[in-house]
Amino acid sequence: MSMFKKVILIGATGSIGSVVLAALEKEPSFTITLIQRASSKAKMPVHFKTITVPDSYPTDELIPAFEGHDVVINCMTSFSVADQFRIIDAAIAAGIRRYVPSEYGLNYMRQDAQALNQVFNDKGKIQEYLRAKAQAGVIEWMSIACGMWIRWSMANDFLGMHIGERRFVFWDDGEGYFSCTTEENSAQGLVKALLVAGTDRDVYKNTVIYLSDFAITQKQLLEAIERIQGVKYTTESINSSDLIAEKQAAVAAGDIKATFALIETGFVTGRYGGHLEKEGEIQNDKLHLPKNTLDEVVEAALKAYGTI
Ligand SMILES: NC(=O)c1ccc[n+]([C@@H]2O[C@H](COP(=O)([O-])OP(=O)(O)OC[C@H]3O[C@@H](n4cnc5c(N)ncnc54)[C@H](OP(=O)(O)O)[C@@H]3O)[C@@H](O)[C@H]2O)c1
Ligand SMILES: *[C@@H]1O[C@H](CO)[C@@H](O)[C@H](O)[C@H]1NC(C)=O
Repeated sequence: MSMFKKVILIGATGSIGSVVLAALEKEPSFTITLIQRASSKAKMPVHFKTITVPDSYPTDELIPAFEGHDVVINCMTSFSVADQFRIIDAAIAAGIRRYVPSEYGLNYMRQDAQALNQVFNDKGKIQEYLRAKAQAGVIEWMSIACGMWIRWSMANDFLGMHIGERRFVFWDDGEGYFSCTTEENSAQGLVKALLVAGTDRDVYKNTVIYLSDFAITQKQLLEAIERIQGVKYTTESINSSDLIAEKQAAVAAGDIKATFALIETGFVTGRYGGHLEKEGEIQNDKLHLPKNTLDEVVEAALKAYGTI
């Protein structure tokens, strides 16, 4: 019998939150409560209890919302992850047993990753905060490192893909390795780990859960896209050191959106902990996640994009 039954989900209609909600919903042992910001325009699924909180996620309003629950799963948007200091404080005050931070990326404990951009830094500081609280024995945590989602990346012109223009941008030689997991396997990995941890609290306790369907290079990604789509792309190459200097200067001058290119660089070069096979033990097999090949994932993403 799982000890984790009552689950809070933050960001339930987002890119990954919606997939996590679908995976949670398939497990009858979970009772799910959603947290939504007051200004949110998202249509929450009506068959769940939804609690509305002020946009800043104030601790004192979250405590009563969290009380009586076992787990908080956070799927909030990248630029808000530092709000989790207040959310974690509320989770501890409300007696939440396990907290899952909004990460879903790479190894944010790496100093080089934290130095690359603000989002990686915030995620790293949040994990450090959780580690300290776990050390003090007041909460447990686990996080998901899943590398990149190819479907999401295709829709958001990430990883060098510009599908609409049939254009591809390589970072340097395009030979850096980065890990990828589908959105579905990332969500299922999280839910299955929660079920395991709910039965044996020492498994997946206070740790990063590394997931990877495969690690690839940009060159391999483009090769698969061109072959499956049956077209040739124009290619160009950018110098990653120059790009980092340029984008960090832009962020310093107030252009927050330049952070996206720094996030992308963090993954695609493979130099900042995005090649997860080098960062920790991959858990896909232990969690019995379905296997996906690069071709299958690229084909499904091109279909979702409406290209094939
Ligand atoms: N591995 C990958 O390829 C990949 C790709 C993208 C994102 N990620 C990571 O996955 C996590 C979730 O990202 P996502 O893209 O799924 O998030 P998203 O769709 O952009 O947003 C998810 C939810 O965040 C909540 N939120 C909280 N503060 C917000 C604010 N100030 N503005 C807008 N929304 C806010 C909203 O919930 P309500 O409206 O319900 O309040 C929103 O629906 C992040 O940690 C992100 O870095 C990973
Ligand atoms: C990128 O540019 C820097 C100078 O800004 C140079 O030292 C480096 O060799 C270049 N890297 C590649 C891969 O061309």
